[in-house]
Amino acid sequence: MTRRNSRAVAVIAGTGVAEHFRAGKSEEIRTEFGSAFVRRLGRGSFLMPRHGPGHGVPPHMVNYRANISALRSLGITSVIATGAVGSMSPRLGVGEFGLLGQFIDFTRRREGTFFDEGLAHTDVTEPYDRGLNRLLRSAAKEAGVKVREGLVYVCTDGPRFETAAEVRMFRRMGGEVVGMTGVPEVVLANELGMKYSSVVVATNWAAGIQGGVSHEGVTRAMKKAGPVMREVVEITIKRVKEAGRG
Ligand code: HPA
Repeated sequence: MTRRNSRAVAVIAGTGVAEHFRAGKSEEIRTEFGSAFVRRLGRGSFLMPRHGPGHGVPPHMVNYRANISALRSLGITSVIATGAVGSMSPRLGVGEFGLLGQFIDFTRRREGTFFDEGLAHTDVTEPYDRGLNRLLRSAAKEAGVKVREGLVYVCTDGPRFETAAEVRMFRRMGGEVVGMTGVPEVVLANELGMKYSSVVVATNWAAGIQGGVSHEGVTRAMKKAGPVMREVVEITIKRVKEAGRG
């Protein structure tokens, strides 16, 4: 059984990252939105494989409400999300790491809120937590990794990659990286008052910048980045606990 912890931190691990952590066995957490799965990392820290225990749930089918609701029920107050992105900006080369600063939501058919009744308008002017970003930045420095900060993330539904024209449009709008899983996860965490930051790695140039995008290429790049991602996240978790920021 998992006990409630008032200063707990969770990492939501995307493709190619979860398997690099040493964690306990998978535990099912039942929520009013459905089941979610976590593994214990240490005292007051948990790993949630975003795509489920078997990594098989595609981005548009992830039960984001169940995932965030489950973390809340465990008393998690800080969430570190990891993700793979396509880069649309010379600010972030392939294989490089970044922290998100803003998002632009191009998803269309996801359950994106906990507030289906009543009037609740969450302020997401700054959706990613500054304090957590600061800890991630210094963890990256400690791990010897350069991170680009304040990236503008565009979220699509997937599971297909983008067209070249979509990428051109996203760039004109100010988008710098594109992915399929960051929204509504960040929104739901904000709705529940949890601190949330996202560390990403560019696995490829987005569609049309240097030709096409392949799933195999993305997976390969992510596998390569996984150990460094784990190191950055583990240092950050330690610092979160030390700071008692929870
Ligand atoms: N597009 C969307 N999602 C992604 C990409 C991309 O190019 N690369 C990794 N995740």
